[in-house]
Formats: sequence, structure tokens, C-alpha cells
Amino acid sequence: MTQPKSVLHGGYHTNVSRSWQAERTLNKEMLMYPIFITDDPNALDPINSLPDQYRIGIDRLKAFIEPLYRKGLRSVMLFGVPLAEGAKDPTGTNADDPKGPTILAVKLLRSEFPDLFVACDVCLCEYTSHGHCGILREDGTLNNDLSIERLAKVSVAYAEAGAQAVGPSDMMDGRIEAIKKALQNAGLAHKTMLISYAAKFAGTFYGPFREAANSAPAFGDRRCYQLPPNARRLARRAITRDMEEGADMIMVKPGTPYLDIVREASDLAKDYPIAVYQVSGEYSMFYHAAKAGVFDLKTVVLESMTGFLRAGATVILTYYTPHLLDWLDEQ
Ligand code: PBG
Ligand code: ZN
Repeated sequence: MTQPKSVLHGGYHTNVSRSWQAERTLNKEMLMYPIFITDDPNALDPINSLPDQYRIGIDRLKAFIEPLYRKGLRSVMLFGVPLAEGAKDPTGTNADDPKGPTILAVKLLRSEFPDLFVACDVCLCEYTSHGHCGILREDGTLNNDLSIERLAKVSVAYAEAGAQAVGPSDMMDGRIEAIKKALQNAGLAHKTMLISYAAKFAGTFYGPFREAANSAPAFGDRRCYQLPPNARRLARRAITRDMEEGADMIMVKPGTPYLDIVREASDLAKDYPIAVYQVSGEYSMFYHAAKAGVFDLKTVVLESMTGFLRAGATVILTYYTPHLLDWLDEQ
């Protein structure tokens, strides 16, 4: 007979006893929906590489969010996507344009949906003519100091418009401290959450996003500021640094290929909320694989969510949020 101490099956024979094996389970408050707001007020443009996702114009935004809000959507991350001729320049002037899509969207969402937590991604790549996430020197390398000064200004503008969180995704050095200080000076630090994309890795999984946001770099790549995919220890240093600089939440991105880093983050930053971003490439991968009959979409996406939670995430950014709001009701 099997040794008594070897018998584990009895502990997870039923649905209920299986559910007790989790440290946490998915609920709607954990989901943050990334959305693209563009400058054509009437746009509701499907995004080729990101099926079922849209670039949304300000006049379409309320009707877009309303049904999701009714189903329990409680937070969004906004990405501004200026597409108009001449909208971009070398310093990303339009990032904090008071009439730009991001600021208009923040104001609208805050006034229409009182229980919706509105976060803004902060970066320059959607607004710079060269498509890099910061301001460049003549030789094409980053001017880090000028970049963080600019990012801090943009963060304050979003918070002033009513954003309840800012999430700098640029990966400049020292941006968390610069933004926290600027928020303090503006009297906004007490009501603005600072979400650090601390462990953001360079790589292939952002492809569909760059089409969606029209933000691919015009030359070179982002490997000198986003982390090398092999760099677990460097990720730990970036997480520790951002905690020390005043981050209120730590994010890891992409998600599925970096679950070990989610675990590192939840160990290192155990007193912080930990976010994971299931990025555009992961979204499209599951979508197309399910279309091809590899597996059932709902089952695989829920399994990927379970992986995030098991690794230590408490907040999940995913383009599957609308699907998940339905799927969580079906369970
Ligand atoms: C901009 C930014 C990117 C993503 C979020 N913010 C793209 C990039 O860094 O090139 C990617 C999100 C996704 O792929 O879903 N800095
Ligand atoms: Zn960027």
C-alpha cells in the first residue's frame, strides 16, 4: 500500500477542496483594463494586431465603458494615441496637452463613473517623433535628466486632471523619485498612486501594442532602457530602487514569460500591491491559438490568471478584462 503520508489526492478530490488550495482567487477588483484613447473624437477603430480591441475617441468613450462598468469594471489604464498630422515632436510636447486625448478621457471618466479607478500610463513614446520613451541627445542616446523632468510634468498634468494613479512605463532612471517629488510639490501626492513599471523587460511581446499606439521607435530599439530578458538580478535591483524612491505599487511586464519575476517582486516588495501586465503579444497569442483550435479561450485565459495569482500578483492588467467580467459571472 502507498505510504499514508504520501496520499495527497484526498486533499483535492472536490471542487471546493480544490478551491481551498489557492492563496487568493480572481475577483473583478483585481482587473485593470488598458485602453487606447485617440484624438479623432469619433473613432472606434479596431486594431489589427489586437483583435477585439479599439482605439477609442472621446465622444465614444462613455458608451464604450458604460456596459463594462455595469458588469463590474473598476479600473482602467489609459494610453493616449495621437494620430493627427504633426502631433509628434522630439520632446513629446503633446503628452500633457490639456486638449489631448488622455486628459480629456480622464476628466470624462472621473465625472461619469464615480467608482472607476482611473490610471494613466505615463510615457513619451506615443508623442515623440523618434518614438523613443524619453528625450534624446544629439547622438541618439537618452538624456535621462531631461526625460524624467518632462515625465514628472506630464504625471502632474494627468493627476491634476483627476487621474488617481500614474504609471510611468518609460524605464528612465530616477523617474519614481522625480514624479513623487513633483506630485508633492503640486499638492497631489496624497491622492495619486504611483505605479512603477519597475520590472519591464525589452522584447518581442509588445509588438501589437506598438501598432495600436503607433509608438514603434523610428530607429534602434529600447534595449538600453528596458531590462534585458535574462536579467533576474537586475530586475531585483530595479524593484528595490523603485520601492526606495517612493513607488506605491510594483509592476512586472510581460506576464506569462516572466512569472519568476512576479514571484521575485512579491517576495521583495511583500508589503506592496504587485501588478502584472499581460501584454499585447500574450493577448494575441492566446486569441489566435484558441481560434486555431489549440484550446478553449476561456479555459486558457483563466488558467493564465491563476498563474499570475499563484506567482504573487494582486492586480492584473489584461486586455481580456471585458471577457473576464463575463466569465467571472458564469462561474
Ligand atoms: C510604452 C508602453 C509599451 C507598453 C506599455 N507602455 C510599449 C513599449 O514599451 O514599447 C506595452 C504594452 C503591451 O504590449 O500591451 N512605453
Ligand atoms: Zn514608451
